[in-house]
Amino acid sequence: MRVLGIETSCDETGVAVFDTERGLLGHCVHSQIELHAEYGGVVPELASRDHIRRLPLLVRQVLAASECSAGELDAIAYTAGPGLAGALLVGASFAEAFGLSLGVPVLPVHHLEGHLLSPLLAAEPPEFPFVALLVSGGHTQLMQVTGVGEYVLLGETLDDAAGEAFDKTAKLIGLGYPGGPQLARLAEAGEVGRFRLPRPMLHSGDLDFSFSGLKTAVLNVVSRQEWRPERDAADLAADFQEAVVEVLSAKSLMALQQTGLTRLVVAGGVGANRKLRERLDASSRRKGWEVYYPEPELCTDNGAMIAFAGARRFAAGQAGADSFAVRVFPRWPLADLKAPGVSG
Ligand code: KG4
Ligand code: ZN
Repeated sequence: MRVLGIETSCDETGVAVFDTERGLLGHCVHSQIELHAEYGGVVPELASRDHIRRLPLLVRQVLAASECSAGELDAIAYTAGPGLAGALLVGASFAEAFGLSLGVPVLPVHHLEGHLLSPLLAAEPPEFPFVALLVSGGHTQLMQVTGVGEYVLLGETLDDAAGEAFDKTAKLIGLGYPGGPQLARLAEAGEVGRFRLPRPMLHSGDLDFSFSGLKTAVLNVVSRQEWRPERDAADLAADFQEAVVEVLSAKSLMALQQTGLTRLVVAGGVGANRKLRERLDASSRRKGWEVYYPEPELCTDNGAMIAFAGARRFAAGQAGADSFAVRVFPRWPLADLKAPGVSG
């Protein structure tokens, strides 16, 4: 079965074709970074308009690269939420209209389910069950995963998401948008230990997170009179990254310990962070646990993860909506999802 995946939840237009027998046939992502850069963050209306411009071209391009005609598609999967309402509506309208014209089912996919299942696209995928650490710009969650749609929330951030903390801190120390990857790059040149930043909720005893206090601690440092960006920024970036990595990895290992599971899956944009990967790899190796990541290019938003999640659901017997109604869910808790075939 061949599934076209469409992702338009935020500032990336992603399209992919996934074949259940042959794997990923093609995928392409158009990033809107340049479009939003001058505003220092994503402007929702501009994002929606750009998705409208790019999506039809990208679909044509990815179908051609996949050597797949539209008539050979068996289904279409699109991101129905969570995300920016206008941006989601572009993908949903396109998917429903394209599906109607081709006479194939159309399936709404949860964006975080896409991220969470994306490591299964790797050459050596993990088996269920596992603990998933979802770390994106909008979410920081630990989930117990026993199958597609079988997600139990173990803990989450009480305020900022990890990616959001990276982005806001990057802005405070004078880096441009999007700040996360730039801050991580700057941190490579810095030395850890100069600034005593907090490790929020490290010893809270539960699996929740909080990152807004860390951001405030950074604000206090950059507001000091003696702050010199050219001299201090790399060290502060390194200390900030260290604090986030320490909390994320400690709680992930705690989640494995508490659930008795031995596999950890890391997904979402912050999962691309090299320091986080090094720390998780080293500490889980000591315990004999395994850590899985998506291919680096599939860490951030893309259509491949949506095509894949849709294909897994179709293959498990989930039907597409029969009304071709355009429905999106800008706020949509992942733990509300049901396994394919389970109603209610
Ligand atoms: O999953 P994603 O592409 O989009 C959302 O669904 O939010 O994640 C984007 C987030 C941004 O906050 C970005 O700054 C962060 O992931 N990010 C990183 C790195 N690469 C992306 N944060 C830290 N280190 C990185 N290397
Ligand atoms: Zn995402």
